[in-house]
Amino acid sequence: MSITKFKLFGNLDLQAVVKDPDFKEDSVREVIILPVLKELGYENQSIVRSKSLKHPFLKIGSNKKRAIKLVPDYIMKVENNYAWVLDAKSPSQKVIDSDHIEQVYSYASHPEIRSTYFAICNGIEFALYRREHTDTPILLFTIEDIEEYWGKLVMYLSPNSFQVGKSFSYDNTSFVGNAFIRSDRSSSIFDYSKRPLLEEIPVRKQAARRHFGVHPYFTRQTWNVVAEYIKNFSKPGDLILDPFAGSGVTAIEAMMNNRRAINMDINPMAVFMVQANISPVNRYELTEAFEQVKDEYIKNEPKTEEEIKKAIKKYPQPKPLKLPKGSDVQTVDQLFSKKQLAQLGLLKFLILKQSNENIKKTLLLMFSVMVARVNLTFHDGPDGGGDSSALRYYRYRIAPKPTTVNFVKCFEARLKRILPAKKEMEYFINDQTISNIQVMKGTATNLKFLPKESVDYIYTDPPYGKKIPYLDLSVMWNAWLDLEVTEEDYQQEAIEGGEHNKSKKEYNTLMAQSIKEMYRVLKYDRWLSFVFAHKDPEFWHLIIETAESCGFEYIGAVPQKNGHSSFKKHQNPFTVLSGQLIINFRKVQSPRAILKANLGMDIADIVMQTIEGIIAKNNGATLEQINDELIIRGLELGFLDLLKKEYSDLTGILTSCFDFNEDTELFTIKTDGRFKTQIDVKLRVRYYLISYLRRMERENRMVTFDEIVLYILPLLKNGLTPENQTILSILEDIADPIEHDYWRLKRTGQVRLDDL
Ligand SMILES: C[S@@+](CC[C@H](N)C(=O)[O-])C[C@H]1O[C@@H](n2cnc3c(N)ncnc32)[C@H](O)[C@@H]1O
Repeated sequence: MSITKFKLFGNLDLQAVVKDPDFKEDSVREVIILPVLKELGYENQSIVRSKSLKHPFLKIGSNKKRAIKLVPDYIMKVENNYAWVLDAKSPSQKVIDSDHIEQVYSYASHPEIRSTYFAICNGIEFALYRREHTDTPILLFTIEDIEEYWGKLVMYLSPNSFQVGKSFSYDNTSFVGNAFIRSDRSSSIFDYSKRPLLEEIPVRKQAARRHFGVHPYFTRQTWNVVAEYIKNFSKPGDLILDPFAGSGVTAIEAMMNNRRAINMDINPMAVFMVQANISPVNRYELTEAFEQVKDEYIKNEPKTEEEIKKAIKKYPQPKPLKLPKGSDVQTVDQLFSKKQLAQLGLLKFLILKQSNENIKKTLLLMFSVMVARVNLTFHDGPDGGGDSSALRYYRYRIAPKPTTVNFVKCFEARLKRILPAKKEMEYFINDQTISNIQVMKGTATNLKFLPKESVDYIYTDPPYGKKIPYLDLSVMWNAWLDLEVTEEDYQQEAIEGGEHNKSKKEYNTLMAQSIKEMYRVLKYDRWLSFVFAHKDPEFWHLIIETAESCGFEYIGAVPQKNGHSSFKKHQNPFTVLSGQLIINFRKVQSPRAILKANLGMDIADIVMQTIEGIIAKNNGATLEQINDELIIRGLELGFLDLLKKEYSDLTGILTSCFDFNEDTELFTIKTDGRFKTQIDVKLRVRYYLISYLRRMERENRMVTFDEIVLYILPLLKNGLTPENQTILSILEDIADPIEHDYWRLKRTGQVRLDDL
């Protein structure tokens, strides 16, 4: 991408002209700025000059009635949104003057504008700022050197550098369970830049023994969702990173799918769990070692008061570490009865005698589950499961009626859980492959052990603010397992609150640092999938803004359940999502920034377009799907607050503008009705085809291609009319030709149309 000064300014002598006292702001606009804007790709109609904006809060005059006007020189429009603001100055004024920056910043952040970038040009220099970082310009150059900076200018500011949220696009779909997974058309050549976004994946939480039931953790991603993401965004042999790894689902699933993995967490308990879970063992030797430990335990089990006292003295005990405030007792040892301390101490003592390191680790993992069960905070759950309070209530609460666990039976149950897990993993994770996975304690904010551009895919699920102070809550395990947590670890832990009373600002800074590190280590054209489970939409802004300012391009967010609802459903639908979101970014050479909707825009149109879009995409949508999609759109375009205020109840719009099927609970476009908003023509065709063929089938009628076209075309009148060939290719995706040119919807197993 190159330009010559001659092409921009003709024979103008830049050095002479700016010294000319008659060359003032007006000349800067006409002679310097306008040609640059035109060359960047802005036509007259997308350059808004001297627009008056009402000052959002200041008014002047004695009766305070006259609103102050703000008048930016230029606002550039992309797809009807304001993309960036530019103010011209005369050559005598500096572009990095703080008053000027403040002034142009106020235009950029005005509710009617809300642009990502703003720029100042005085004819000699050009300064470009991101709205969120006014302290340093992201681009500063002299107009004399514009040729050298042209590529960057185009990258940030050309109309193609902006996107309006996620756009619906039509792609081939294949059916997996209940979800559509877009098929990879070019399966022989894996092209990272052409990977589709995944639709919501049905959760199969308990189906993998390697995760379910091995060891509890505070939160856990669903393994099959993570596996689908890994398979979609990376290829075998690739290096996958999760820097907030928790129980290790990402790294383990990476290995199970022939990738290499790096698993990092600041919590030593989490790191221990993963290391022990994956350590390869001979299952017969493990069983033998288990039996040996069990027999010894039974022989020596302390029962009488005297024996218990002795055992506590003789066998290892947990460090009496302080428990977090709000706990029912002060120190870790008080979470256990004397008998429990003696029992656990003996078990640990016997396990530590094992000589095979991997077997020892695996037995210690089982011991660690015993710690979770044999304590005074444990109580049975209604489902026969049960939990210790740290895991269930995120607090050390002595159970009103602590459950007395049968120690030996409970230990035996651990073996029954770990053996199938090891068996499941051993084909992929064994002595030959173990060097392909690195499990380490460390902080996501500093990945310096990794060179830049060395990772192929990142799937990560960071802490969500205040909810779970991981290090504080893991103290019971860390105390028993002799795992050290340093002051530095607490400093680096990305949470709000907790024992160290961390502020929202600290949390935000740590998250931002970790996103920067993820950007640094990821290769170009590769993906980051970031689980967003935060309740506060403000946090969304931080994630997107940090990711964009690092150079990530936002590709889209997908609602994804995680087996349980991490968001409490609220009366006002727009306060919460029904599950979590997976936000997908790509590291690209020329990232496009998301455009915010200006708040003068008609939100009703966006709402209607979003509802129709999700209905078209899914061939009918549930209230929950519509709600989630509106939240995503509201977050992307920055009008969630308005949505909350003006659309707290969607029922009105939905029932008046759409049909509702009580059996399927799906909203659809009214029978024979049309889409009112601009939905991608292929999506519309697909939607009409499916509903038409389905209706014909219900009525036992056969239809030919010509009849289908005759039905479809009038419905598409108000938009672009597709070619017959386009209709045919979409038809081929969803239906099969049968004799005499008749068409019938594909049967279950190909596309499950009955479920739509
Ligand atoms: C939501 S959990 C991850 C759960 C994980 N996805 C799983 O499936 O088990 C977040 C994790 O981030 C860890 N964490 C917090 N701050 C960190 C930091 N600065 N660096 C690395 N890990 C951190 C916590 O210890 C916790 O295990």
